[in-house]
Amino acid sequence: MLDCNYFHYTANTLNCDEVRLDELADTFGTPLFVTSAKSLIESYKAFEHAFASLPHFTCYSVKANYNLSVIRTFAELGCGCDVNSGGELYRALQAGVLPEKIIFAGVGKKPEEIAYALKSGVLMLKAESISELKAIDRIAGELAKTASVAIRINPNVTAETHPYITTGDSKEKFGIDEAELPEVFALLRQLKHLRLIGLDMHIGSQIFDPEYYVAATMKLLDIFNSSKELGFAIEFLDIGGGFPVTYDPAKPATPIGHFADKLIPLLQQTGVKVIFEPGRYLVANASVLLTRILYKKRNHTGKQFFVVDAGMTELIRPALYQSHHEVLAVTSHKQSVVADVVGPICESSDFFARHREIDAAEEGELFAVMSSGAYAAVMSSNYNGRLRPAEVLVNGSEVKLVRKRETYEQLVQNELP
Ligand SMILES: Cc1ncc(COP(=O)(O)O)c(C=O)c1O
Repeated sequence: MLDCNYFHYTANTLNCDEVRLDELADTFGTPLFVTSAKSLIESYKAFEHAFASLPHFTCYSVKANYNLSVIRTFAELGCGCDVNSGGELYRALQAGVLPEKIIFAGVGKKPEEIAYALKSGVLMLKAESISELKAIDRIAGELAKTASVAIRINPNVTAETHPYITTGDSKEKFGIDEAELPEVFALLRQLKHLRLIGLDMHIGSQIFDPEYYVAATMKLLDIFNSSKELGFAIEFLDIGGGFPVTYDPAKPATPIGHFADKLIPLLQQTGVKVIFEPGRYLVANASVLLTRILYKKRNHTGKQFFVVDAGMTELIRPALYQSHHEVLAVTSHKQSVVADVVGPICESSDFFARHREIDAAEEGELFAVMSSGAYAAVMSSNYNGRLRPAEVLVNGSEVKLVRKRETYEQLVQNELP
């Protein structure tokens, strides 16, 4: 079972909540991202429920899906934001998130981004190197401010997930190595414009085994205890994001409660507030990518292809991470066929499904590429001169266009003669 409860068949038509997907495609065109507001809200509530007994603060990791309506939906529920750039900070502020609920991450923040964050009054900047701490101190001094910072620790825990989304291993670029911490703490005593308020980690994404979190949290707790002995008043322990979702019904995600069961007893004893930064968990199964079948064709071996009007420019995850997405026919069929579902882009990696049993749909019909809410629209590109697709938000029977489809004029608007 996918966790896409708000996408369901009524008779033989796939709906989002109370709205038929074929009608959305007729109204808004394809490719089209369709997001269920109720699904966003339900995922957030499930997360909050799991960690309810722990004093904590959840910061939605905007990088997973930065549409203003998505950010606003979470903000209205009291959620904060984790941002990774000046652009994401701008989006969070535009969506109405209070600056004191925003935390600023990123391994390579530019001086102007640091200044923007400080002027905006974010809760904290998470520093990932000694050089960055010095830069934040200098910029805070120039602005006559004291910067609240967390240090992101690299716990050297290699979580089992796709190698491109493991971030807690010391051979990766993220965070400060444990061996450097004595120097970091000594430096923090000297720098006059910094206040250390948090310790932070993020070990990767789509992590199924809670034990990786336990191992990394134990390291964070050791560092927390040492920092206390050194006289630092840590207020926040940030555990990061990475909680898994089900993309493939054959590989169901570990329920969020299992992570809570392991983490709450460890963290409760600290007496400080815990920050979580879920991205994928909150949004992945709230959206589908609607695409129309342009052509069916066969090769000499009899292999069948569905050529659809969406591609890796809208959803790059299969090409980038070999990730699985269910592909459902919007009008269900009794017959199925083994086929590849491929896009129109000039790359062999431009596919959504390979050698998959798929409903025997006809040209002109629609497919829904499921679980397309996280790291999908945000990674879309204009490669091959493609227009970024429109996005709609569905709530019950209500439909709202939340991003217009790009136009040819927009494709060239920043170019000079
Ligand atoms: C620092 C940080 N926090 C949170 C996240 C969100 O991860 P996920 O979407 O897996 O929850 C990421 C994703 O890469 C990240 O880099």
